[in-house]
Amino acid sequence: MATILRSPRFLHLWYAFQLLVVLLQTKVLCYQHKVGDLDAWGLPTSANPLVYAKWSKYNTFKIGDSLLFLYPPSQDSVIQVTKQSFESCNSTDPILYMNNGNSLFNITTNGNFYFTSGEAGHCQKKQKLYINVGNVSSADSPSYGPSSGPSSAPSYPTVFGSIPQPPSPSSSPSSTSVIIGAVIGSAISAVINGFM
Ligand SMILES: *[C@@H]1O[C@H](CO)[C@@H](O)[C@H](O)[C@H]1NC(C)=O
Ligand SMILES: *[C@@H]1O[C@H](CO)[C@@H](O)[C@H](O)[C@H]1NC(C)=O
Ligand SMILES: *[C@@H]1O[C@H](CO)[C@@H](O)[C@H](O)[C@H]1NC(C)=O
Repeated sequence: MATILRSPRFLHLWYAFQLLVVLLQTKVLCYQHKVGDLDAWGLPTSANPLVYAKWSKYNTFKIGDSLLFLYPPSQDSVIQVTKQSFESCNSTDPILYMNNGNSLFNITTNGNFYFTSGEAGHCQKKQKLYINVGNVSSADSPSYGPSSGPSSAPSYPTVFGSIPQPPSPSSSPSSTSVIIGAVIGSAISAVINGFM
């Protein structure tokens, strides 16, 4: 038994298993929240006028997570605004304006974040989302600043040498899954090689 545990094949399997555990944890640690779930981002229906307030209540957000707003780009947009503008539905001079239909907001600090639509009248019809990250009180919320991409990519152990990267990590919101898929693929082939 002890000999098997020290054999190179067993070590290959063990490292591959460890790598998968790390990857699964990374996937769980950085969550992409699809705003509104099935309702996506749009005018709330009369059947569910408080859809975004409820959605935000049943989700927990942390640094490293992101919010994905999905909507038809010709009909809607997302703006991040201050608390005052959120309450008064003032869409002049937003902190951040996004209108590509597939907008990713990266949570990089704790605080309170306020979003609404940039389309006239949509805020008044309760197309607005408020989230709290890190249980920071809104009275002394430190930052409303726009977010940028995560400052550093998660680092994986490189027991199998370099990890394949997709050609353009910035363009697609699913690039994380592509990287994870590629790494799982190489871990699996390492396992297979371990048996040969
Ligand atoms: C709306 O916000 C802008 C920029 O913050 C401000 O200059 C303007 O006075 C606000 N309008 C109202 C009606 O509060
Ligand atoms: C959030 O903070 C408030 C006080 O600021 C505290 O009373 C409350 O228990 C905290 N909630 C959680 C989930 O930590
Ligand atoms: C959030 O990050 C993604 C990928 O890292 C990037 O494409 C997107 O532009 C970022 N969003 C903002 C609002 O900066």
